[in-house]
Amino acid sequence: MSSSLVSVAYIGAIILFILSLGGLSNPESSRRGNLYGIVGMLLAVLATVSGPRVTLDGLPWIIAALLVGGSVGLYAARKVQMTQMPELVALMHSLVGLAACLVGFANYIDPMAALNLSSAEKAIHEIEVYLGILIGAVTFSGSLIAFGKLSGKIGGKPLLLPGRHFMNLVGLLVVIVFGYVFLHAETIDAGMIALAVMTVIALLFGVHMVMAIGGADMPVVVSMLNSYSGWAAAATGFMLNNDLLIVTGALVGSSGAILSYIMCRAMNRNFISVIAGGFGTGGGTPAKKGEAQPAGEVVSISAADTAELLREAKNVIIVPGYGMAVAQAQHAVNELTQLLREKGVNVRFGIHPVAGRMPGHMNVLLAEAKVPYDIVMEMDEINADFPDTDVAIVIGANDIVNPAAQEEPGSPIAGMPVLEVWKARTSIMMKRSMATGYAGVDNPLFYKENNRMLFGDAKKVIEEVVKALQH
Ligand code: TAP
Repeated sequence: MSSSLVSVAYIGAIILFILSLGGLSNPESSRRGNLYGIVGMLLAVLATVSGPRVTLDGLPWIIAALLVGGSVGLYAARKVQMTQMPELVALMHSLVGLAACLVGFANYIDPMAALNLSSAEKAIHEIEVYLGILIGAVTFSGSLIAFGKLSGKIGGKPLLLPGRHFMNLVGLLVVIVFGYVFLHAETIDAGMIALAVMTVIALLFGVHMVMAIGGADMPVVVSMLNSYSGWAAAATGFMLNNDLLIVTGALVGSSGAILSYIMCRAMNRNFISVIAGGFGTGGGTPAKKGEAQPAGEVVSISAADTAELLREAKNVIIVPGYGMAVAQAQHAVNELTQLLREKGVNVRFGIHPVAGRMPGHMNVLLAEAKVPYDIVMEMDEINADFPDTDVAIVIGANDIVNPAAQEEPGSPIAGMPVLEVWKARTSIMMKRSMATGYAGVDNPLFYKENNRMLFGDAKKVIEEVVKALQH
């Protein structure tokens, strides 16, 4: 394929990627968005492989790499549970970072890469290499730690080293100094030493940055690392003179940054303070009994009584959370929804922007179970309607319905917008125990007078409610 044909294919792929991002912004068009992405990527790979920069000698290597990478990807995608998706995403980000590092080193030692470049062009090329490896290394180690934290292999508690901001500052200064050394290095060996020092510092910085971030801020970190992986890909594009990689990387980088901003707003957090770290605690620890608890009784309810309440309700709002994903209860939830709608009950869903463990987690599950899109509302659309709601059913959610965010200024989640389920006539919390949610914060909702606890696995309990409603 001639280089101009490759350029045309690249432009086609870029348009498809933009259409894909547009499609993914709405559950109804997300399948189409995915399809655009797949076709775009196929076009990009085919055009690159058949383009003038790939020689016949290199082809077997590329095909072997495609087969290995493709099989690993296919295996991972088929095997991964919906609840493990964020970990997989974090792991994939780490691969983009690693690729940027490897391309950077390979590019620096490749005698052909800087051949026939003027001294200004050579300096720009070296800055690209240095920045590419820097962003790649931070993305690589940061994403690996994020993977560890999300999969529970590393605790969610923030690691707060004394003088951590000072350490980061010293690291930054060393990176700048070695950047200068690198640009003025006389030999490849001298340059490699500077690159190696910077890489080690960048790797340590990535580890330190994510270790310092508490459980509750992890969603922002994942989307921030997503953004970094985009910039790492763009840097790789600059190093390889590949326009498609530059544009695609910039698309991922900027959309990740916008998503981080939206999530910070959804959690009422300042982006800088998230990056500075130290917020949130470990996840899933049982709530402490005693002094810290708000006074009051926990009233439990049976599935049969819940069915009774629902039978008499006119307006019901369902708030799903991470527990619905764990229990794989979405199909049972859809069954319950249909049954209630057939009985003339107005059923709607309230979705918090960080419900579950990844952006859009609940929307994906509800779409999979074929819950109609038009009754799935975002938090801002539905929050004002709780006072007119007869029953609010909380299914395996905790932090996102915690009134402490509004009522306790000292709470670690103070200020985070939450779904105000306690304003409904009755709220029903479906969960297995009194354990806390991801942020490890106690939830005073359990003890509210109009709240009932329906203990048990979400899927099992909803099936029981459905059965009781059918009789
Ligand atoms: P959480 O606050 O984590 O609460 C989930 C609740 O589900 C738990 O309290 C748990 O209580 C219950 N549960 C677990 N398995 C269950 C099962 N099989 N059946 C019934 N209940 C079950 O979840 P949330 O309310 O969705 O809030 C999300 C949290 O995750 C936020 O803190 C958010 O910041 C964080 N987070 C979000 C993301 C993104 S991007 N969405 C990424 C990482 C972290 P029991 O153990 O008592 O059952």
